[in-house]
Amino acid sequence: MKVLMVGSGGREHVMAWKIAQSPLLTKLFVAPGNAGIAQIAECPSIPADDLPALLDFAKKEKIGLTVVGPEAPLVAGIVDEFQKEGLAIFGPSKAAALLEGSKAFAKDQMTKFGIPTAEYEVFSNINEAKHYVIETEMPVVIKADGLAQGKGVMICESSQEAVAALTRIMAEGIFAHAGNKVVVEKKLEGEELSVLAISDGEKIIPLATAQDHKRAYDHDRGPNTGGMGAYSPCPFVSDEKTAEIVDRVIRPMVRGMAREGLSYRGVLYAGVMLTKTGPYVLEYNCRFGDPEAQAILPRLKSDLLPVLSQVAEGSLSQESLEWHEKACISIVLASGGYPGFYHKGYVIHGIEKFQDQQEMVIFHAGTALNTSGHFITSGGRVLAVTALGENLKGAHDKAYSAINQIHFEGGFYRRDIGGRALEVLR
Ligand code: AMP
Ligand code: GLY
Repeated sequence: MKVLMVGSGGREHVMAWKIAQSPLLTKLFVAPGNAGIAQIAECPSIPADDLPALLDFAKKEKIGLTVVGPEAPLVAGIVDEFQKEGLAIFGPSKAAALLEGSKAFAKDQMTKFGIPTAEYEVFSNINEAKHYVIETEMPVVIKADGLAQGKGVMICESSQEAVAALTRIMAEGIFAHAGNKVVVEKKLEGEELSVLAISDGEKIIPLATAQDHKRAYDHDRGPNTGGMGAYSPCPFVSDEKTAEIVDRVIRPMVRGMAREGLSYRGVLYAGVMLTKTGPYVLEYNCRFGDPEAQAILPRLKSDLLPVLSQVAEGSLSQESLEWHEKACISIVLASGGYPGFYHKGYVIHGIEKFQDQQEMVIFHAGTALNTSGHFITSGGRVLAVTALGENLKGAHDKAYSAINQIHFEGGFYRRDIGGRALEVLR
């Protein structure tokens, strides 16, 4: 089978790496890919949001399956466009991807289907929103309704902070039209957990659990990012508890959507807060997490390609997936300044010695090649240094020993990925 992956991050690198291991694969393209992905796939330089060019390419190359990594093309309706032309594609339709495309829509669906989530109000009018945050109890979390690359969420401890956040989002437009509407919700406390499942609209196959680290700096300080590191499995929940959470937050959403004619095909990812009174959904994403995928997929024993293909055809014949007992951790090496402004084009040193290693893979995110053939930085998140181990401690030590040996100007990473989990395991 000829496969086209869409995207260019660490998530797409691990997905391509996993798909490349499938005996069913005949040829792999990743558009646009990055310098690391180019080592295992052909990378036509088509941007992930150029739907007409992707469609032309898939037709011309007679692609058997297109797999979409990031949310933007899904929310823009790439699946509907491909299906109209009779092309198989993995991911939810535009209408179903609205679960990620609009936080207000997601909250309303959760309320309708009885899925636990923080109390909330939705506002399109800035004055009404400001009036509300002055009157309501603090702290609150203010979220731009639309896509903002994981950065559209502001935690506000006081009403002054909340008013300032509303001004930035709704008046100054820091997230452009994604901030025309906002969700204001109660702040929750607890450990966060990423719960992912693959669904064909009816059947559900849960994936292994993971925990992301969203803040830029150690001890969860600094601004929210796309994610600075993840590990799998998450020791804060037993297998039984995980199954219960899937029943509470994934199944009712897939079923509820199906009843409304919004068959959910693809990966459904619930960001969950494990509070003292049970799991609450913070958000839904309509795709694999990044960097959760880098921590989850290396643990997958089963071939991923047939599962993706079955979902694209609308009928999962598999009931479950097989997993390695090992733990996996993925640590993001980012450009200085990320998630704000950063410079690009720095040479990455020390990466070569980690090629072709067992249980130690460096997934590329924002990388390119310079004219002398060296890897250089070309994005905010640059590499996801990933290791498997007999347990989390083993994986952790291996990954940190590797990331310590990789350098580029201004590069930084969190030193506490998996830290709380290691404490719990001790
Ligand atoms: P989201 O994009 O909605 O997942 O939000 C990004 C991050 O903001 C989450 O991973 C949490 O760390 C934090 N967050 C979102 N909603 C809440 C909430 N209601 N209470 C506390 N933290 C939250
Ligand atoms: N790691 C968070 C996300 O993929 O949205």
